[in-house]
Amino acid sequence: MNLTTILVSKVKGRLYSLSFISLLISMSSITSCTYKNEQDLYPINDCNTVNVSYKNFIAPIILDSCSNCHYDATMANGNYISLETYDEVSAQVKNLQLEVAMTAPPGSISAMPRSGGPLSQCNVQRILAWIKDGGPNN
Ligand code: HEC
Repeated sequence: MNLTTILVSKVKGRLYSLSFISLLISMSSITSCTYKNEQDLYPINDCNTVNVSYKNFIAPIILDSCSNCHYDATMANGNYISLETYDEVSAQVKNLQLEVAMTAPPGSISAMPRSGGPLSQCNVQRILAWIKDGGPNN
């Protein structure tokens, strides 16, 4: 082995390790680019948002998750809005507050329900779909 061979093999070794490192970097950037959370990878396909019914869906979910704060009987000091009747809910669709309540970041003051467990992703999607339909009394 003369000096030139040693130098060449050193340079080659460097090149190999360099290309190995850049291969690692590109691999990790590929995986980080394709990384998605569970929901992006598996969209809620069985969440039916077609023709959501006020009577069969919206009213029951409000009764379940919102009535302890938003029914007439619970508006103890009159500070709460009521969501007991269609007209009351409809008013909150028209002034966009229901949409705000459904899309506000969880934990923020506008996010509803204000306390207790949040609505499921699918229930939120269905409420938003119903709002998009114009909030019909169906
Ligand atoms: C723990 C009590 C509580 C629960 C449960 C709750 N809210 Fe509220 N909500 C409030 C309070 C307090 C306010 C602010 C005062 C008001 O306007 O009634 C509010 C306000 C609102 C408003 C009006 C927007 C605003 O900021 O004034 C909408 C629309 C609303 N809530 C929808 C809902 C819906 C839909 C649910 C059920 C998914 C729900 N809320 C559950 C306490 C609650």
